[in-house]
Amino acid sequence: MPHGRRRAVLSPSYDGSLRCFPTPLTMASGTFFSFEGIDGSGKSTQARRLADALRQREHEVVEVREPGGTDLGERIRSLLLDPENHIVGRAELLLFSAARAQLVDEVIAPALNRGAIVIADRFFDSSSAYQGAGRGLATPEWLTPFHSFVTAGLTPDRTYVIDLDVETAARRRGARDADRMERGGDAFYRRIREAYRQLAADDTRRVLSLDGDQPADRLADQVFADALAMVG
Ligand code: TYD
Repeated sequence: MPHGRRRAVLSPSYDGSLRCFPTPLTMASGTFFSFEGIDGSGKSTQARRLADALRQREHEVVEVREPGGTDLGERIRSLLLDPENHIVGRAELLLFSAARAQLVDEVIAPALNRGAIVIADRFFDSSSAYQGAGRGLATPEWLTPFHSFVTAGLTPDRTYVIDLDVETAARRRGARDADRMERGGDAFYRRIREAYRQLAADDTRRVLSLDGDQPADRLADQVFADALAMVG
């Protein structure tokens, strides 16, 4: 099923099986933002700045990062990022997805249900870009229903893609030790960037692509203006 456009949370009737597609959705009062981009694009800074700005306006904001954000998710994160681990592509997709499923049930859905704003530093678009395009594992057509299964139908209300060229992002990452994902090389990152650009072109209602090669303040203002229009 195409991702829902509504603000959605897990339905109590959802039994976790693939059989029950499409997952019935209930309305929630919260707003769900996600940030995407290649490593070094500056998206984590922007996610944090949006959270700070919304808190200053007295909103309850819950920040999450992927993979992670739950006990299980943090353990999966160490497995995924450890350069010592050899992980085949299919297992990589399933591990990221397992961490996401746990995060949705434990943190994101309850927060949206009580009316909070959730800001996710990466969500399922990362799997489409990194595993789908970067690793060449799956097409968007296959991944769309898969992501719906993983998140029980939950889709961000707005996704900000921070677009930056691969060379500038690599310079920004600098000399820090590359984790397992960051060892993919330039061609890997070029496929990921292209996948994000395609996503923004294909889903203009949800996804907003912003130029990452501009001062962080100006970028933060653009994100904030858009987000404010959504949360009021
Ligand atoms: P992290 O250090 O959090 O990077 P960043 O600060 O850029 O988000 O590591 C997360 C890494 O995992 C990053 O390289 C992107 C990758 N990733 C995937 O490949 N697929 C996914 O579904 C997610 C959530 C992350």
